[in-house]
Amino acid sequence: MCGIAGYIGPLQAQAVLLVALERLKYRGYDSAGIAINHDGEITCRKSHGKLTDLEKITTLQPVLGHCGIAHTRWATHGIPDSGNAHPHSSGDGSIAVVHNGIIENHQVLRDDLESAGVLFSSQTDSEVIPHLLERHYEGDPLACIRTVLPLLRGSYAFAAVFDQHPGHIYVARQGSPLLIGRGKGQQVLLASDIPALLPHAHEYLQLQDGQLADLSSQEVCISTFSGDTTDLTFLPIELDVEAISKGDFDSFMAKEIAEQPEILQRLLESRLHQGTLAQPDLGIDLRHINHVVFLAAGTSWHAAQLGKRFLEHLARVHVEVDISSEYRYRNPVASGGTLVVAISQSGETADTLASLRLAKSKFIPVISLINVLDSTIGRESDGIMPLLAGPEIGVASTKAYTAQVLALYCFALHVARVKGQLSTSDLSHRIDGLHAIPHLVAETLRASEASITEAAELFTAANGTVFLGRGGEFPTALEGALKLKEISYVHAMGYAGGEFKHGPIALVTPSLPVVCICPRDAMYDKMISNIEEVRARQGRIISVGDADDQSLAQLSDHLFPIQRCHDELLQPLLSILPLQRYAYHIARNRGCDVDQPRNLAKSVTVE
Ligand code: G6P
Repeated sequence: MCGIAGYIGPLQAQAVLLVALERLKYRGYDSAGIAINHDGEITCRKSHGKLTDLEKITTLQPVLGHCGIAHTRWATHGIPDSGNAHPHSSGDGSIAVVHNGIIENHQVLRDDLESAGVLFSSQTDSEVIPHLLERHYEGDPLACIRTVLPLLRGSYAFAAVFDQHPGHIYVARQGSPLLIGRGKGQQVLLASDIPALLPHAHEYLQLQDGQLADLSSQEVCISTFSGDTTDLTFLPIELDVEAISKGDFDSFMAKEIAEQPEILQRLLESRLHQGTLAQPDLGIDLRHINHVVFLAAGTSWHAAQLGKRFLEHLARVHVEVDISSEYRYRNPVASGGTLVVAISQSGETADTLASLRLAKSKFIPVISLINVLDSTIGRESDGIMPLLAGPEIGVASTKAYTAQVLALYCFALHVARVKGQLSTSDLSHRIDGLHAIPHLVAETLRASEASITEAAELFTAANGTVFLGRGGEFPTALEGALKLKEISYVHAMGYAGGEFKHGPIALVTPSLPVVCICPRDAMYDKMISNIEEVRARQGRIISVGDADDQSLAQLSDHLFPIQRCHDELLQPLLSILPLQRYAYHIARNRGCDVDQPRNLAKSVTVE
């Protein structure tokens, strides 16, 4: 949710910052801007819209200098236009600031500043920061920031340059992520995420909440808001540039869908050892857990619903699934034997983090299933289950979802084993079958592609789509609908098949595609009844089902064939694959940018 970056070093800051923004644009792309402090003069360039616009402006009017800050915006306060683009400047132009987060008391601060004669040039909450800094500046930027911080309420990571202090960037963090990187040749970088530190930084540290820093090429000085200095512990950056590039693919989404066999293979290698489960050490005695609460948002919430099915069925544990933005404002009952599992690809989703903190305040143990290990959710959890999916950059989550589903299945098997709920032979059967998963995923992606492109061609112009599934395929229906709407802007709804007759069936017309997820599982006959009901009203049927299911093929306008999984419980891992590709094709046919869908951001670090 907004990305910020900074650079101090021997290279031209503009070029480095534009690359960093390219890597951060998944966090927002409503506008972008840079500010460079060159020998005491600050110059800003900003543009509305995607980064390419800023690139054009800075090509025509380059800004020279070796110290600068940059921002890519996901609009919260104020429409996405160039006036609201960061960096924001103080009235006299002596200070420029980029900010990620929300200043919740901005209106009071703005009223106060305006009544003192300050003129604002944007509608943003962020602009109060440079004006407050200007008001309290007496020659020492750190002292000035320390005076301003107690005035701010909300969450923030911000970076500021002061014209009188060329070669320095000042940063503060309270609630939004911010990393500091160091590279050869006295280069110091700053970014909301590790990929944006590459390729110049080889080590990094996370600024913690309540810390601020004075960065220069000579030194990185970190202290607490109250002034205590802090030791620096830099960690090596293990990510390489290859992992964050599109390679031969036209989009990150296409690359990430294609990577799934390899990623799931890697996950299995970490979870299986010589035919047995090798679950990460979570530091919790799972034998005493009798109640699990999954907390998540978006796609991760869909994976959580499958996690519930796995744990209930295999380990016979009572499970709740809650949307983190709802849980955080409830007053959940904390009883002995409860475990909270936070699920988050990014490890930074503000609502999931807040719900984790609420659970911890009630002394409930919290473990997390996360992809970005050095994240706030990871750091605040009692134990971590890594997803190992590699960087996911496409805004629509694909590989992280299937990794979550598989990791949750392994976790459920582990809990079942610890609690003695499965016989040895049942457990071995379920574990042995896992080895085939990467191959089944690859084969499903390969074999379904032709009918997906054909159907997508026909339904590109459809202005709505319904997804139906039952049992474990109900979350697949929700996730399939989410994929389609987020990247193609087609209205889509996922329904439990049994609910269809309670209202949504009124939508069926000869132009409505209804996607029926119908593998040969325990709910097969019920789903066939759903298909018949849609056919009776001339709706168009796209089914997702077994490759050899001739009767399903005959009932359907299009069949997306999937492989059969050894365990029916895990079948949704395969069922979602054609729906990821279907959404991708529809979006491409409609001319949509699949990696940067409008209004969205990948990492939602504000409420
Ligand atoms: C955003 C993303 C979704 C993601 C959700 C939760 O809305 O666009 O793709 O599922 O956040 O993110 P998390 O990182 O917590 O899984």
